[in-house]
Amino acid sequence: TWTTATFVEESIKEIRAQVGDRRVLLALSGGVDSSTLAFLLHKAIGDKLTCMFIDQGFMRKYEPERLVKLFQEQFHIPVAYVNARDRFLAQIDGITDPEEKRKRIGHEFIRVFEEESKRLGPFDFLAQGTLYPDVIESADTNIPSQPGQRVAVKIKSHHNVGGLPDDLCFKLVEPLRKLFKDEVRKVGRSIGLPEEIVQRHPFPGPGLAIRILGEVTAERLDILRDADYVVRQEINRQGLYHDFWQAFAVLLPIRSVGVMGDQRTYAYPIVLRLVSSEDGMTADWSRVPYDLLETISNRIVNEVRGVNRVVYDITSKPPGTIEWE
Ligand code: XMP
Repeated sequence: TWTTATFVEESIKEIRAQVGDRRVLLALSGGVDSSTLAFLLHKAIGDKLTCMFIDQGFMRKYEPERLVKLFQEQFHIPVAYVNARDRFLAQIDGITDPEEKRKRIGHEFIRVFEEESKRLGPFDFLAQGTLYPDVIESADTNIPSQPGQRVAVKIKSHHNVGGLPDDLCFKLVEPLRKLFKDEVRKVGRSIGLPEEIVQRHPFPGPGLAIRILGEVTAERLDILRDADYVVRQEINRQGLYHDFWQAFAVLLPIRSVGVMGDQRTYAYPIVLRLVSSEDGMTADWSRVPYDLLETISNRIVNEVRGVNRVVYDITSKPPGTIEWE
């Protein structure tokens, strides 16, 4: 029978057999897959593993710092932190079309990845958090019926771009490829990943950049990060995090009139998007207590400069999508 302990033990043996003493590169994202992967590889091959974290500048407040700190201080796994915030922001400067934003962020990700892997490398292997559903999806035939049957594998990236350039060749190490998501969570938990990673809500690859409608600027990113942080804090405080599939803030690039003290304000609205879902394909807006909405609204308007109004999105999917871009 499958247990996390035997899985960890066997993966370590398999990784060692496959990789030997050659070098492996891994791109951490902060999710449970890449975190579990990093832990397994580090256990198997120690300093032959290089974990790279590319900070695009679109993550939630404190998340990059927390991720790096967790790995370095708690797991003693060094992380090559790449601050690429300015270049990502420059790439989408003035861009308002959602798909164009995604494309540019995806391509920049590949470019940074390529440059950094050359700088830190050379590497023989790339570790990927491919899961069993990804294997099925990317295979021509469905389930590999013969042991050892070859299955086509695409470079997994949360950015919807083709993958790495041809001259950047790696062999793949994919120790999670037989697991379903809930099994990865179990393994992650058993090796001591904190619940905030194990149970983290899905977060899009382009991050906050697609939660600022229209043009993304440093100022808008700061505002959204702070508003989003309030949402997360209040939801955690009330023990509701696990009631949602996703729960986040969106910034609209328009302004409306408000009043604060005896001052007229003219500032951005924040949209609250709180949804329940089984798989993200369909979703329902969450019937949350008015008190929660009130607390979040008051705190955002009082604490986040540049916001004077909070609205609640009561659209399900379909016809709405979960994200606003
Ligand atoms: P929508 O907005 O289409 O989202 O209802 C469904 C799920 O996919 C996530 N999402 C993305 N994830 N890159 C990602 O990695 C993206 O560009 C992207 N767009 C949407 C979304 O957060 C939700 O979980």
